Amino acid sequence: MDLKDQINIEKLPRHIAVIMDGNGRWAKDHGQPRVFGHRNGVKAVRETTEAAAELGVEYLTLYAFSTENWSRPRLEVNALMSLLVETLRKEIETLNKNNIRLQAIGDISKLPKRTHKALLEGIENTKNNSRMTLVLALNYSAKWEIVEASRQLAEKVKLGQLSVDEINEEAFAGALSTKNIPDPELLIRSSGETRLSNFLLWQLAYSELYFTPIYWPDFRKNNLYEAILDYQSRERRFGKTSDQV
Ligand code: FPP
Repeated sequence: MDLKDQINIEKLPRHIAVIMDGNGRWAKDHGQPRVFGHRNGVKAVRETTEAAAELGVEYLTLYAFSTENWSRPRLEVNALMSLLVETLRKEIETLNKNNIRLQAIGDISKLPKRTHKALLEGIENTKNNSRMTLVLALNYSAKWEIVEASRQLAEKVKLGQLSVDEINEEAFAGALSTKNIPDPELLIRSSGETRLSNFLLWQLAYSELYFTPIYWPDFRKNNLYEAILDYQSRERRFGKTSDQV
């Protein structure tokens, strides 16, 4: 039986988050510059997005550029930013055809102007789509997001719009950039690294973590199905005992 057919659609994660890692090592293995890896990573983005939408996943979040990635060689950062613009422009039509809405999390105002513009256009042009939401994490870091949320809440307290007693988990989650998005049930990281690297630290509190040795440019639909099947074989207890769930 195909991997896809083994998936229990009733128990599909609503939200899958992915740390796309291993582009550089993939390129090195192919005797090519790192940028070649990123270019080939776009194919994996397309496949994963298509597979997730076909299954009925509601949210797919991809870690495309972290706040820490600015410290990479300038040439690589520029190439990644150009690739983003190019991909966004090229794929908006595909997103619309497939009824997929684009959103972004992260400090996107600090992206280069043309990347920021292409992103806003993509978000605007797909805002009425309803089959799946593709969230790009760009210039994103979880610690940045948590600090921003704290500032936002503090500001409200200062203005008398919120009392300290009203600061609870719900209020805090509502101040994060993911405020209207359910927490991911499943996090996938490619390339064999087993770290969270400052990604969605608040939102991943109870998520199942899945690590695969596959480098991101080689990630295909079947790799997503494998991750979902692995997730479905686990028991999610949320701190309770086996008997209680
Ligand atoms: C990590 O591999 C990958 C990135 C930092 C960039 C990922 C971006 C893309 C795949 C293109 C984005 C396009 C869209 C539309 C989302 P790495 O460079 O850290 O690999 P390494 O660990 O092997 O060096």
